[in-house]
Amino acid sequence: MPIVDDLLGRYKGASGAFVETGTFLGDGVRRAIEAEFDAIYSIEINADLVELNRGTFKAYEQVTIVHGDSSRDLGALLARVRAPITYWLDGHYSANPLTGYNPAHLSPVLSELEQIRAHRVANPQLGDPIILIDDVRLFRCSSDRLDGHFQLSLDAVLAKLSTICPAYRFTYAEGIQKDDILIAHP
Ligand SMILES: C[S@@+](CC[C@H](N)C(=O)[O-])C[C@H]1O[C@@H](n2cnc3c(N)ncnc32)[C@H](O)[C@@H]1O
Repeated sequence: MPIVDDLLGRYKGASGAFVETGTFLGDGVRRAIEAEFDAIYSIEINADLVELNRGTFKAYEQVTIVHGDSSRDLGALLARVRAPITYWLDGHYSANPLTGYNPAHLSPVLSELEQIRAHRVANPQLGDPIILIDDVRLFRCSSDRLDGHFQLSLDAVLAKLSTICPAYRFTYAEGIQKDDILIAHP
């Protein structure tokens, strides 16, 4: 689901950098350009989509489209980032045949958050990032079993976020449905 309304403008805070997982057709990057981030990075697993988006955004020198698997390669991308970050974590399996995914990580979000935590520890001067995670309806499972699409509970995602910043507050915004975007902010 693309970012709706002025969500990035509202949660940009002091961030100079925007980091997205899952570029798809570039809607997140477009929103980040509108929100006037100085540096915009997006990582996409599908080589055709990477080529498409590199063409689409070639006139925007602040935009970098990285080809990689965010479950493994996000940390290498983050090593280049030198400004406080707003994240849009949206790289995951979807049924659309144009897209790609890692079968071992239908949702790579826990691996992504671990790489974000390591970057936060290595770069304390950047402060606590703002992290937006899309499609969290797919993590809402019943309490006694994992029946969400990604076999991953929202509680596990919240617990992992708290390892990055124990003081995070969690709010939700409307995406494809009510409360579908999780926002972790200091
Ligand atoms: C829901 S779409 C992203 C939509 C886009 N962020 C937006 O705001 O319009 C999911 C994208 O994630 C990509 N993807 C899936 N698994 C990935 C992974 N492990 N690493 C990077 N990209 C991945 C898919 O190829 C697809 O393009």
